[in-house]
Amino acid sequence: MKHFTSVHDVDDMNLLAASALQYKQSPFMDKSLGLHKRVGLLFMNPSMRTRISTQIAASNLGMEAIVFNVDKDGWKLELEDGAVMDGSTVEHLKDAAPVLGMYFDILCVRTFPGLTDRDEDYSEVLISKLKEYTSVPVVSLESSTLHPLQSFADMLTIKETFQETRRPKIVLTWAPHIKPIPQCVANSFAQWMNKWDDVDLVITHPEGYELATDYSKGAVIEYDRAKAFEGADYIYVKNWSSYGSYGQVLCTDNKWMPTLEDLKTTNNARLMHCLPLRRNVELSDEVLDSPYSIVTRQAGNRVWAAQAVLADILKTL
Ligand code: CP
Repeated sequence: MKHFTSVHDVDDMNLLAASALQYKQSPFMDKSLGLHKRVGLLFMNPSMRTRISTQIAASNLGMEAIVFNVDKDGWKLELEDGAVMDGSTVEHLKDAAPVLGMYFDILCVRTFPGLTDRDEDYSEVLISKLKEYTSVPVVSLESSTLHPLQSFADMLTIKETFQETRRPKIVLTWAPHIKPIPQCVANSFAQWMNKWDDVDLVITHPEGYELATDYSKGAVIEYDRAKAFEGADYIYVKNWSSYGSYGQVLCTDNKWMPTLEDLKTTNNARLMHCLPLRRNVELSDEVLDSPYSIVTRQAGNRVWAAQAVLADILKTL
């Protein structure tokens, strides 16, 4: 794999997952693979899990990881070609990216969408220009539209917790939030589950919260949440703002926050969320603190997802 910015960069997702689960068993089995290699973790936005799990993954492979909080410590970057930079931006990505490419063997980046201009957000300008202006592999630590390291960890979590031979029913359910949240986790989860041949995905949300069909196609869309939950093996809870009425909050109905009663209609489903989350807004204490929840295991698997991805890329260098 050259880059890791979406599921489409992965040749064989089951093979990559097997590698990740092997690292979970033996974290240091490739402790020399990344010797004398350096990974740059560029953050335009905050992070806890992604930052720390990727640092641990790099360390397990013998790599040096350097975190650069571009939003706090860096020059304000210009992305537009031909811009007259007489405003707030100080350095063009066209100049910064090749320099970063000299310093690092792999560049990882997190950048959130503005949620005002859909075309701009969905063009993924930062990731695509970073690929254009550097020769080193680029890994997404969450972009405007996708969060592939999260989705890969979600896949691992489902793989290791589902012991039956049949296909699990996985439900991605919208939940309320007080502010507009990107669609990237939902887009990415749908994209990974739809590509994974071994699972059935149902997406449930209020009208107006349809994801872009590029990501949701292949899934069953069920507006009746109670029906969607019936017999589910996994309930993945996540808020996202509207794609159609871009970036808008159209619903705040807390009926969409799953309760223990709702979960009783499932097949003893495991409850997932990528974290962070606002307790008692997106999910209640009673649900999060119940045996249904596997959110901590899910976050723990971020290390093994990142390690498998970095290892796969290191093997190509
Ligand atoms: N799930 C996730 O990406 O968490 P962080 O924002 O803390 O990295």
